Amino acid sequence: MIQTVTVGLGERAYEVRIGPGLIAEAGRHIRPLLKRGRTAVISDETVWRLHGPDLTAALAAEGISASPVLVPAGEGSKSFEMLARVSDDLLALELDRGDLIVAFGGGVVGDLAGFAAAIYKRGIDFVQIPTTLLAQVDSSVGGKTAIDTPRGKNLIGAFHQPRLVLADLDVLASLPPRELRAGYAEILKYGLLGDLTFFQWLEIHGQAVIDLEPDALTHAVRRSVEMKAQIVAEDEREAGRRALLNLGHTFGHALESESGYGDALLHGEAVAIGMAMAFRYSAAQGLCPGQDAGRAQAAIAAVGLPVRLNELASHPFDGARLLGHMAQDKKAEGGRLTFILARALGEAIVARDVEADAILQFLTTEGARSAGAQA
Ligand code: GLY
Repeated sequence: MIQTVTVGLGERAYEVRIGPGLIAEAGRHIRPLLKRGRTAVISDETVWRLHGPDLTAALAAEGISASPVLVPAGEGSKSFEMLARVSDDLLALELDRGDLIVAFGGGVVGDLAGFAAAIYKRGIDFVQIPTTLLAQVDSSVGGKTAIDTPRGKNLIGAFHQPRLVLADLDVLASLPPRELRAGYAEILKYGLLGDLTFFQWLEIHGQAVIDLEPDALTHAVRRSVEMKAQIVAEDEREAGRRALLNLGHTFGHALESESGYGDALLHGEAVAIGMAMAFRYSAAQGLCPGQDAGRAQAAIAAVGLPVRLNELASHPFDGARLLGHMAQDKKAEGGRLTFILARALGEAIVARDVEADAILQFLTTEGARSAGAQA
C-alpha cells in the first residue's frame, strides 16, 4: 500500500509517496508532471548500475525518455566542479524548462541534482527518487539543496522544492547494514526532537526498522516524513522551528569535517554521536534530566551507532579545531554559536548565543584534546 504525505506549501505543495514498487511505477507517477516526455536522470554510478535499468524501463513504459547524467558515488561529488559538469551535460542534452530532472540516489545526488535544478536556466522542476533510508526520511524532503566547499559542508546552495518524492522501500534492500543504521539515526532524530511517543516506539522497534521489516519500516518512514513535512510547511526557510531538524548536526558536521567526509564517518553516524553529545551537553547545563540523556544515548547505541568520540576512527579530535568548524556552520551568526539542545526526550529547542568556551570545555570532558596538549 502506498502512503502519501503532503508537504503543504501552497501552490508549491507536493506529495511524498512511500511504499514498495514505486520505481517500477515511476512513469505513471511522473507523467502528469511533464509537458513533453523528457527527463534527465542525475544519479551516481552505483545506483545507476543497480537500479537504472528498472527506472529507465518504468519511464519508457509511459513514453518518457531518460537521459542519465552520472556522477561518482560519494560526498566528493557535491563540488563546484561536479556541478559545472552536470550543468554542462544538461545543456548538452538541450533540456528546457518544460522538461524535468530526476534526482535518483542518496543524499549526495539529491543535494547536487536539486541544486543543479535550482539554477539550471534559472530553475527547472525536479523529482526526488531517494534510494537510501537517510535520503527518504530527510534530505529528499524539504527543498534544501547544496554543494560543499573546502570551507565546509552545504555552504553553497538554494531552497528548491521538488514536485514529487517517490520513496520506494524495496530499494533499501540493496543497502549495506551500516548505511541502514546511518539512515536510522535521522529517524531517531524525529523522535528525539519532537515526538516522545515515536521515540518510545523506536526504543522497541528500532532494530526491526533497520532489519527492513515492512510494517515497522513503513511506519518509521511515514512518521519521519510527516514530521519533516509539518516542520517544513511551517518554516520553509529555517527562520525558526526548522532548525530543530539540525539536532546533532553542529557537533556532527564538525566531526565529519575532521574525519574527511568519507567512509571513516558516515553523515548519519555523525548525527548519531552529535545527538548523544547534544543530550549530554543539555544535561550538563541542567537543561535536561540526566536520565533522558541516558535514554537517548541508549537508544542510539542499541542499534550499534556511535555515542562517544573514542568510538570514532579519527579520535582523538582536537577541541579547538572542532570549535573552528562549528563557527563556520551556517547556523552561527555574528560569532554566536547556535545549537539544538533538549529540555527532555521529544522536546528539542533552538539555543542561540551558546558560549564557545562552554562548548570547548565540554569537548574536553568528552575526550577531545585541549589546546596545547600533546598528541
Ligand atoms: N536536514 C535538515 C533540513 O532539511 O532542514
